[in-house]
Order: sequence, then structure tokens, then C-alpha cells
Amino acid sequence: MAPSLVKSLLLAAACASSVSAQIDVDLSSADSVKTAMATIAYNLLSYYKGNLSGMTPGILPGPPPNGDYYWWEGGALWGTMVDYWHYTGDTSYNPTTEYSLVFQAGAPSNSYEPANWTASLGNDDQGFWGMSAMLAAETNFENPPSSDPQWLALAQAVFNTQAARWDTQYCNGGLRWQIPLSNNGYDYKNSIANGIFFNLGARLARYTGNDSYAQWAEKAYNWTADVGYIDENYNIYDGAHVEHNCTDINKAQFSYVAATFIQGAGFMYNYTNGSALWEQRLTSLTNRTLDVFFPNGIAVELSCELTSSIQCTTDMLSYKCYLHRWLAQVTQVAPFIASTILPVLKTSTEAAVKNCNADGTCGFRWTTSSYDGDTGAGQEMNALGALMSVLITLESVSSAYTNTTGGTSVGNSAAGVGSTVSSTNYSAITAGDRAGASILTIIVISGLVSMLVWMSTGEGEMFRLGFFGKGKGMM
Ligand SMILES: *[C@@H]1O[C@H](CO)[C@@H](O)[C@H](O)[C@H]1NC(C)=O
Ligand SMILES: *[C@@H]1O[C@H](CO)[C@@H](O)[C@H](O)[C@H]1NC(C)=O
Ligand SMILES: *[C@@H]1O[C@H](CO)[C@@H](O)[C@H](O)[C@H]1NC(C)=O
Ligand SMILES: *[C@@H]1O[C@H](CO)[C@@H](O)[C@H](O)[C@H]1NC(C)=O
Ligand SMILES: *[C@@H]1O[C@H](CO)[C@@H](O)[C@H](O)[C@H]1NC(C)=O
Ligand SMILES: *[C@@H]1O[C@H](CO)[C@@H](O)[C@H](O)[C@H]1NC(C)=O
Ligand SMILES: *[C@@H]1O[C@H](CO)[C@@H](O)[C@H](O)[C@H]1NC(C)=O
Ligand SMILES: *[C@@H]1O[C@H](CO)[C@@H](O)[C@H](O)[C@H]1NC(C)=O
Ligand SMILES: *[C@@H]1O[C@H](CO)[C@@H](O)[C@H](O)[C@H]1NC(C)=O
Ligand SMILES: *[C@@H]1O[C@H](CO)[C@@H](O)[C@H](O)[C@H]1NC(C)=O
Repeated sequence: MAPSLVKSLLLAAACASSVSAQIDVDLSSADSVKTAMATIAYNLLSYYKGNLSGMTPGILPGPPPNGDYYWWEGGALWGTMVDYWHYTGDTSYNPTTEYSLVFQAGAPSNSYEPANWTASLGNDDQGFWGMSAMLAAETNFENPPSSDPQWLALAQAVFNTQAARWDTQYCNGGLRWQIPLSNNGYDYKNSIANGIFFNLGARLARYTGNDSYAQWAEKAYNWTADVGYIDENYNIYDGAHVEHNCTDINKAQFSYVAATFIQGAGFMYNYTNGSALWEQRLTSLTNRTLDVFFPNGIAVELSCELTSSIQCTTDMLSYKCYLHRWLAQVTQVAPFIASTILPVLKTSTEAAVKNCNADGTCGFRWTTSSYDGDTGAGQEMNALGALMSVLITLESVSSAYTNTTGGTSVGNSAAGVGSTVSSTNYSAITAGDRAGASILTIIVISGLVSMLVWMSTGEGEMFRLGFFGKGKGMM
């Protein structure tokens, strides 16, 4: 054959394979969307090794350096899988999901503070597991046997332990980031920890009808705004330090923080029967989020998904999942905002699925209109979350249940009260810490580079990178 013919045949083959490599999904067909979701879910669960012999149930491979994923992301994964079942009715992964959420509950207190993970235990990490348990109650996900902890009680335990940690000594209130005093980041009060506490309070108020939760939720939101983490334009910044009375605000913005507050505001709106205060907060937060995180109608994790390069940590690579799911969900408890939110989630999802291959492998940068090669559990959770946010428009998906509308989870309003996290021995210096300290020195020397990374990732996430983290490598 003539070389030019070989070349054109090869080109044709390459085009054919790249076309067939993209996942085939019709976003106007519920069946098609569900089929695509099943493919992506199957691929996503291939990252989970916790049910293999010798591995720890409930967690994704990690935490670093033993794998890419911190403990919290397991909790986020199982919440995603609760929603996967809720949206599709596919029960394939329910046993694994239920077992994982129970296994990591952290007996005996069952407040998602298991001893194994104390070295990276932030209120946000604990809170992610708590929000997944709350979702299980709200969706009436299958209840564990009565000898095991129950979904509602687990969420209440997380909430109660956090309420007990509300700290009035500095900054006029608020939750610190880390739970153990010896963890780096204990002196940082951040928006995500307080946002999750707010979110859980709002949802517990609606689910149980107990106004104490709503009062806490309002207090947590007001504190976050008063301290300036939520500004007058409804931007939400990362956090600040107690030694500066929380005035040295790190202005990095992350989409999951916004989504956490938006969902909480939606539940407060619903719980208060549509109060003017929560309608206004929900509308303003949503407006700002759509403008900031969806340029051209496509989700972008702007603090780390830079035009020139992707600086996101493994954690950040999963935030679009929560952004899509929680914005979609809020349209059920606050239907007035649906026509503002859902069309944007749809254009974003159209872009997201172009980044998925036929085998359910999905990339990260949704503006590329083809697979970008940057895959992982977080990226696939993102695509799954995006498809849910379209499925909600194609068929009826039940709205979050409450104690009086079909929720059957058994609660315990005193769950977790009095539980404490032992932090005594995590301050011992290990070889891993020394390695961390020398990395710190290198970073201080290469000041320019560190400043760039600092600015693009936010300080909180620097800890997660392990640069300052003592103990992150433990266990
Ligand atoms: C582990 O879980 C995955 C996903 O649910 C499943 O496909 C696989 O068969 C399970 N493996 C074992 C050994 O249970
Ligand atoms: C804690 O770690 C031990 C040792 O690796 C493991 O056997 C156990 O299952 C873990 N428990 C949890 C809740 O992660
Ligand atoms: C309402 O919630 C608060 C806070 O958790 C709790 O102390 C109180 O006992 C609850 N009240 C009822 C009636 O359950
Ligand atoms: C929270 O802030 C709103 C708006 O400023 C205010 O109306 C409300 O009274 C505050 N609630 C509490 C508990 O401070
Ligand atoms: C700390 O900030 C709060 C507002 O966030 C303010 O009320 C308080 O007076 C400040 N305390 C000091 C010591 O500056
Ligand atoms: C919302 O309305 C219901 C039914 O009218 C009422 O029972 C409930 O107390 C109201 N809730 C609030 C927080 O005002
Ligand atoms: C948000 O509000 C501003 C000012 O009213 C408006 O220009 C903008 O279009 C709104 N954005 C969205 C997404 O609604
Ligand atoms: C509260 O949520 C329910 C769905 O669970 C919805 O039907 C109702 O309209 C919402 N209330 C308000 C004030 O939007
Ligand atoms: C609803 O909550 C109340 C108060 O906690 C409790 O007595 C009742 O059993 C709950 N109902 C259901 C269906 O769980
Ligand atoms: C911490 O270490 C001390 C001695 O180094 C020991 O007495 C204590 O039991 C340890 N505490 C925990 C919770 O392991």
C-alpha cells in the first residue's frame, strides 16, 4: 500500500477509536444516563480494595504514603454510593456501602473518630462520614442490624461531638480544623469544618424537627459570616488562624465549601417553611457559586484547576462531585431555585461526560471536550455526581425524608456525648515527621515556589500535602 493510504487508514482508525472510546450517553434518556452511571460506578469501585483479604474495610488506598487517599474520602465515596443507589435503584454496591459506613464508625463511641485515623482527623474529615450517614437516613437506605450503629444516630454523634468542640476562647466561636491538639492545623479555623457542622445541624433539624439543631446551624452560619469567611458578596474563603483572631484570612475558594453551605441553607429554608432570611442566603450563595465555579456553564475547581496546569491535590480532585450532587439535591428542598441551578448543572454534565471513556474511566478537566488522561477515584466520583444532577430532571427522585415522612432510621439525641479523642501519643516525633520537616526546610528555601503552591492550593490543603503534617504518614 502507498504510504499515504496507510497513513490515512491509521488516522481513520485513530479517529474511530477515539470516537468509540468516549462514553455513549444520551442526557435526555434516564435509561441511558443510568447505564453510563453503572459503567462509571463499576470502574470507580475498582479503586476500592477494602474488601480484599488483609485490607482495611471502608477506606480507599491510603492514607499517604500508603496510597493516594485520606480517610475522609472513603466516607465521601460511600455517600456517593448511597446516592448512586438512591438515583438508580441499583443495589449492587449496597452491602459494601453499608458495611463500610458501619465499619469505620469507630466503636465504641460510634462518632466517626476511629483511633486509626487520629493523625489526620479534622472536624471536616469526621464530618464527611457524618454527612454520608445523614444521607443514608434521608434516603431511607437499608438500616444496619439493630446491633450495629444506626444512620441517624451516627450523624447525631458527629454533630454532638462537634457542638462540644465549639470554641469560644478564640475568634468569638467556631470550630477548629483539626480535632487532636497535637495535629498541625489545630490552630486553624476553617470554613469547611464549620460548613459541615452547619450542614448537619440544618439537616438534623429538618429530619428530627428538633429546633436545637437549627439554632446551632444558624449560630455556625452567622459565625462564619461574622468572622468574614463568607464575605458580603457570598464568596466563601478557606479559613484563618486563632493566633490572629481569625483575621489572616486565606482567600482560596473551594467548590465543595460553597456546596456544603448551599445545601445547608436549602435545608434551613425548608425547615423554616421558606423564611426570608434563608431564602436570601440560599439565593445569594447560589448566585455567587454559579458565577465563580461555573464559568461558561462548566464546573471548574478554580483554586487549583489553573489554565496552565492542574495543581489539585487528590482531595480536591473530588470536589466537583459534591458540588454537583448537593446543588442538585437542594432543588428538591427549595424548589424555587431549581430553574436557576439545573440548567447550569446540565451544561456542566454535558462537558463532564466528554471526559469519560466507554469503560467508565473519567478525567478531571471538563473544559477539554475529550478525555484528559487525569483519572482517579475522585474524578470518577465527579462524573457520577454530574450524571445524578441530570437524572434528577428526567425522572422522579424522592426528596430527603424526615422522621415523619418515611425516614425509618433510629436516632439517639445523646449519641457521642462525652466521647473524646486521644491525642496523647501522636505528638511523638517519628521518622516520617523528620522527613516532613526537611521538606518544609526545602520549601522555605525555595520561597517563590512555595508561595505559588501556597496561593494556588490554600494553606489548609498544604497540610494535606504532608508538607507540614506530622503524623499524616502514620498507620
Ligand atoms: C469487592 O467489592 C467490589 C465492589 O462491590 C466487588 O465487585 C468485588 O467482587 C468485591 N470483592 C470481594 C472479594 O468481595
Ligand atoms: C485499624 O487498623 C488495624 C491495623 O491495620 C486494622 O486491622 C483495623 O481494621 C483498622 N480499623 C479501622 C476502623 O480502620
Ligand atoms: C434536641 O436536640 C438536642 C441537641 O442534640 C438534645 O439535647 C435534646 O435532647 C433533643 N430534644 C429532643 C426532644 O430530642
Ligand atoms: C443570624 O444572623 C441573622 C442575619 O444577620 C440575624 O437576623 C439572626 O438574628 C442571627 N441569629 C443569631 C442566632 O445570632
Ligand atoms: C476577635 O474578632 C471578633 C470578631 O470575629 C471580635 O468580636 C473580637 O473583639 C476580636 N478580639 C480581639 C481580641 O481582637
Ligand atoms: C412550618 O410549618 C409547619 C406547618 O404549618 C409548622 O408546624 C412548623 O412549626 C413550621 N416551622 C417553623 C420552623 O416555623
Ligand atoms: C448573580 O447576580 C448578579 C447580580 O444581580 C447577576 O448579574 C448574575 O447574572 C447572577 N448570576 C446568576 C448565575 O444568576
Ligand atoms: C420542603 O421540601 C419539600 C420536599 O421534601 C417540598 O415539597 C416543599 O415545597 C419544601 N418547602 C418549601 C418551603 O419550599
Ligand atoms: C421520630 O422522632 C421521635 C422523637 O425522637 C421518636 O419518638 C419517633 O419514634 C420517631 N419516629 C420514627 C418513625 O422514627
Ligand atoms: C501514651 O504514652 C504514654 C507513655 O509514653 C503511655 O503511658 C500512655 O499509655 C500512652 N497513651 C495512649 C493513649 O496510648
